[in-house]
Amino acid sequence: MFEYLPIAPPDSILGLSDAFAKDPRPGKINLTVGVYKTEEGSTPILATVKKAEIKLLNTENTKGYMPIEGHLEYLKAVVGLVFSDQLDHGRVAAAQTPGGTGALRVGADMVAKHFPGTRIWLSNPTWANHGSIFQAAGLDTPVYKYLSADKTSLDFSGMVENLERDGRPGDLVCLHACCHNPTGIDPSLEQWAQISDLFAKKKMIPFVDFAYQGFGDGLMEDAKPLYSLLAKNPEVIVCSSFSKNFGLYSERVGAVMLVSADASRTEAALSQIRQAIRCNYSNPPRHGASTVAIILNDATLRAEWNAEVDAMRNRISQMRSMFIDGMKKTGIDRDFSFLQRQKGMFSYSGLNSMQADWLKNERGIYIVGTGRINVAGMAPQTMETLCQSIADCIKATT
Ligand SMILES: Cc1ncc(COP(=O)(O)O)c(C=O)c1O
Repeated sequence: MFEYLPIAPPDSILGLSDAFAKDPRPGKINLTVGVYKTEEGSTPILATVKKAEIKLLNTENTKGYMPIEGHLEYLKAVVGLVFSDQLDHGRVAAAQTPGGTGALRVGADMVAKHFPGTRIWLSNPTWANHGSIFQAAGLDTPVYKYLSADKTSLDFSGMVENLERDGRPGDLVCLHACCHNPTGIDPSLEQWAQISDLFAKKKMIPFVDFAYQGFGDGLMEDAKPLYSLLAKNPEVIVCSSFSKNFGLYSERVGAVMLVSADASRTEAALSQIRQAIRCNYSNPPRHGASTVAIILNDATLRAEWNAEVDAMRNRISQMRSMFIDGMKKTGIDRDFSFLQRQKGMFSYSGLNSMQADWLKNERGIYIVGTGRINVAGMAPQTMETLCQSIADCIKATT
């Protein structure tokens, strides 16, 4: 049977990372990867994570199965982190999932089973995995406009017109709460309020992917779009990932949270989430969630963690400024200041696939063919080389 299996197309971004690893050039720069990097180019374990793990090692006394919905203290702390005092936490059915990806899939499976034929609108563009996850669960994935023609800002009127005209009651709409991947372009709070009104009017349900809390403007500030949605919409699905803000990529820590109109619906919602999990991976892994629970439930560690998240965000923001200044200094006739308005690790640079190839082949600089760059892959010591190479590339290709 297996001899009939064709080879699946490779993941384009991981393929570039492989090519980068094999590239022998000493000055090579990788701006393709989806993880945070320090100035030195490493993805270290956060100091608070190390401290929590030591505590865990000394106190953990079982590796027995977790409840299907996961670590209960973790879930309580996560619901607090995400929703703060913006709603009655009794309205939230929450389950721990393997990363944000697991949360998206469990949420989608639950919806697809009980509401077959449901559609979920995706921004164009969106994180490459969104389409695959939702389609694998059996949902249809129409797309709404998101990016302006010059690829540097939000096409807000296009987005609203699209959803207003073609959205139907009961449709889900996938939204990035902050730090839109791949563009780095987020709606303003005023625009979020309009989006929220639109969904309430159309009876469409926000499905919020919250993978970068803390990487935009701050841990609390980044939740404001979600609160704006909650203010007008009684039902919301939220998928959190703690891969980025805790640096726990490989521990697979996330949560799916279903907000119902009132607390009387929560038990049924949770029972259905449990069913979706049971027939998938049965119950979640313990280690990452225990680590997060220790940090969020200890005032000192939590404050230290907040500072670590602030430091990651500030480094990214500094790299944006440094890059814009560096590009100005090259004298090239192209303004990159739009990058300062974008949030999070990723940005659309405005470079095209031919230019991405040129940079890779001529200079050993790796960016995604769509022009997406990981700003966290930049560093002060390589900034001049990077900017000069991009300027040379623009001159050579336009
Ligand atoms: C927009 C978005 N959603 C979800 C995820 C999934 O994160 P995780 O690694 O926790 O599964 C990512 C990771 O890159 C992402 O960029």
